[in-house]
Amino acid sequence: MLPYFPFRNEFDHRMGTVLLRPDESLVEVDDHYGHEISLKRALLFHNHRYYFQAQPGTELAQWDVLDRVLTEAAYNHPQHFSLIKSGDSWHWINHKLAEEQRFIFGNTNSLPLAPLDWAGRQVQEDLIILSADGTATLVAGQLCFPNGWCLDDKFGQTFLGIHRPAPAMVQSTLQAAHKLLERIPEHRPIWRASWNFKTTDQLDMSTKYSTAYNNELAALAPTLTSDSIGNQLFIRIERQTFTRLPRSGAVLFGIHTYQNVLADEAADRDRAVRILGTIRTTPPEMLSYKAIAPFEDALIGFLENSIHADSALVNK
Ligand code: HEM
Repeated sequence: MLPYFPFRNEFDHRMGTVLLRPDESLVEVDDHYGHEISLKRALLFHNHRYYFQAQPGTELAQWDVLDRVLTEAAYNHPQHFSLIKSGDSWHWINHKLAEEQRFIFGNTNSLPLAPLDWAGRQVQEDLIILSADGTATLVAGQLCFPNGWCLDDKFGQTFLGIHRPAPAMVQSTLQAAHKLLERIPEHRPIWRASWNFKTTDQLDMSTKYSTAYNNELAALAPTLTSDSIGNQLFIRIERQTFTRLPRSGAVLFGIHTYQNVLADEAADRDRAVRILGTIRTTPPEMLSYKAIAPFEDALIGFLENSIHADSALVNK
């Protein structure tokens, strides 16, 4: 089952941001760790520039990210990772991958890769750095599992520029989100979850796959029925965290993507009800933007049947 389930019975256009509790980690590790790290490393190997970019002058922020990510990972998952700090001499052990790395914190020559690029290969999260200058510009990132965008699309753009294609109904929410990002204090990270549905569980849904996906969707959509769609559709959830970094003042935007087949989630009646309520109240413009409109009717039919079948069982 999905660890996050941001469906609340009706469409919610608000930011949905909350403080990260002290017992909640920026870095999460699940059963997909090995597969996702291998996939990330393969993508970076084959097309490095597509998946990793950093502006000159972001080195300090990259070290900030490395510190935060490794420290959180080792603290919250001591069975998987260790980090031993002796002054600036750091020793990282990744027990899951049987790898280790010694380096001098702040000395880029002591690592085989740029700090953000190296740290990102240890965790399932995508890691994006937003500038500290009030514009929240995307100045560096390792982005392997995006949903419909890529670094080339958004690199060097401000937070508001990045979101310009989003529907008009959420533009005031995005103005508020921009202000919120500017005000995140150090040591008080926040997080939110976003949702979508896809006819594939391919993790890397970068822009280069958008045309193929849209064509496949156009061909598949007429064949999707309320009987078949449960096993053909995947719910895609992003757990997004936002953290002010202490040395650079930049913001780390972390994205952990979780997916599950719709039928699994809808087997839980409460979850089916919450998705149905959300889809029924999502404005058409948003359903179209999220590419859900082509299968909206089949999805609603499937959810109604699941809920009805469950009620019939209970009433027997
Ligand atoms: C509190 C912070 C944020 C909020 C409330 C927020 C909200 C949204 C919303 C409502 C959408 C459109 C609908 C949807 O897909 O759900 C969206 C799309 C998007 N967001 Fe965010 N977002 C936030 C942070 C960020 C950050 C920091 C980035 C990257 C730097 C980002 C990148 C994107 C991208 C690339 C899209 C798709 C835009 C397109 O269609 O080209 N978001 N966001």
